[in-house]
Amino acid sequence: MLFSPVKIGNIELSNRVAMAPLTRNRAFGTIPNEMMRIYYNQRTSAGLIITEASQISPQGVGYVDTPGIYSEEQIKQWKRITESVHKYGSKIFIQLWHVGRSSHPDFHNGELPVAPSAVEYTGKVKTPQGLKDKVTPRALELHEIKSIIQDYANAAENAIKAGFDGVEIHGANGYLIDQFICDGSNKRTDEYGGSIENRIKFALEVVEAISNKIGAERTAIKLSPSGTFNSMYDSNVVETFTTLIDKLNNYNLAYLHLAEHYNPPGKTYTIPDHYLQEGEVIKYFRKIYKGIIVGNGGFTREKAMEYVENNYCDIIAFGKLFISNPKLPEKLKGHLILNKWDVNTFYGGNEIGYIDYPF
Ligand code: PHB
Repeated sequence: MLFSPVKIGNIELSNRVAMAPLTRNRAFGTIPNEMMRIYYNQRTSAGLIITEASQISPQGVGYVDTPGIYSEEQIKQWKRITESVHKYGSKIFIQLWHVGRSSHPDFHNGELPVAPSAVEYTGKVKTPQGLKDKVTPRALELHEIKSIIQDYANAAENAIKAGFDGVEIHGANGYLIDQFICDGSNKRTDEYGGSIENRIKFALEVVEAISNKIGAERTAIKLSPSGTFNSMYDSNVVETFTTLIDKLNNYNLAYLHLAEHYNPPGKTYTIPDHYLQEGEVIKYFRKIYKGIIVGNGGFTREKAMEYVENNYCDIIAFGKLFISNPKLPEKLKGHLILNKWDVNTFYGGNEIGYIDYPF
């Protein structure tokens, strides 16, 4: 049941209500701060807190004021947050992020963002200099891929130094790992492109490198097998993700986090016919993945209870509801009225809409 404990790796979570990773753009200059500590601290009744996506290197950034986990100062400031969260009895994983093509030269002294392949990429991106057109990225050289895998492993080691209970690799929502997985963005002809086995190699090597560094029991991954956000497309998507998720069974990870869908405020995405449709993703992969599954994507109280009680997944990660309800587990348990969220304060700003939602 949603309010009963569950074990992930070697740790026990007090309940199955997780706080989903949420980009809030308040880590000014990429450094976590006191306001963020208060924000996470207010949400420690979650069985598990998964932090906002945090870049593994300066190259991994693609949004304004998202935190990093590659410098000593970032580690030091994250440590204040993890200590505070642990003091109040919760557990916290950091989400490790490289955005790949979803960046802009404004973040990189005029250099192009990197990706598996130089596939045309359109849309808008908000940079420190304003709203700009996305650009076609530069394809990574083979040796650069190896060094990004090393960046992931170093970031994971930093996360443990900063006191995190583990790391969640961001393999979802059209960022670098997803760009390698899907054939719409991966046109490589070397060992990282072409066949499904080659396209999932990067994801598996990141999993492997991090597991070797900090232990598989502290390593998790998030995937969005029906995601089309960030112009994602795969011509044989069910087989692609089935192959990957089946291979993940070999690692004994802390958990697999599956996004049923990603529904950013005010946007809807159409899912191609050959994709698993809304409501099918978590149930389908439950039959393939043997370990703990965290489900995410527009869950209500009723749907969350239904999914856990019917064993479609083990844990539910709530995003928007956790923004507006710091004590979400208590509220769900007591069936209390939930605060509404304000989309205008989701991304960037100050305390308003961040640490001032009523308990
Ligand atoms: C975003 O900042 O819009 C964002 C970040 C991470 C995601 C999805 C969206 O996984």
